[in-house]
Amino acid sequence: MSNDERAASSPSPCTDDGYGARPETRDAICAFAARIEEILDSLPRSEVPGAVAEAMKPLLADPDLLDEAHCLCQPETYRRHVLYADPKKRFTILSLIWRPGQVTPVHGHRSWGAVGVYEGCPNVALYDCPADEGGERHPVEKSDVTCAPGDTTFVHAGYDDVHKIYNGTEERVITLHVYGRDLVEDPESINLTLAATAS
Ligand SMILES: [Fe+2]
Repeated sequence: MSNDERAASSPSPCTDDGYGARPETRDAICAFAARIEEILDSLPRSEVPGAVAEAMKPLLADPDLLDEAHCLCQPETYRRHVLYADPKKRFTILSLIWRPGQVTPVHGHRSWGAVGVYEGCPNVALYDCPADEGGERHPVEKSDVTCAPGDTTFVHAGYDDVHKIYNGTEERVITLHVYGRDLVEDPESINLTLAATAS
């Protein structure tokens, strides 16, 4: 069975239970997913992450977008919730919930990605990531910006957009993420993790 045939025979997240979303939530997320499909089908790959970040902006302004189940956190680390998985496995939409002090490793991504701030004020630190003669990479921080609700950004796959996100506030942070691969089985597989070098 080809991937397309397998996708066609799979239940659609927009006509079935939609990862636990209420119908109102499902409609907004599925409309966004349809827009992402249009972008993937019409734009050069290099323009996809920026266009998806732009298309995300209306969702970030919707106070009823997320169900309670998609806002649950956990004590150990930030928590991911899959909101939508493309049946053709071309992208995944997630919410990430950050308690105060929770932080990602310094990392790049194995696919393009788009990120938006839904609630709170996370920080995004960016890193240069040169490789030494042995091919080992040594990230050095070059900027650290505090974001606000409604802000968006995007990354390309690989080591040119290495970053870290953290919640340095005393309030909950919620971010929305779209990545250009299937992450239902293993959301962690999106990250290329690196050890930061003190600068
Ligand atoms: Fe990231």
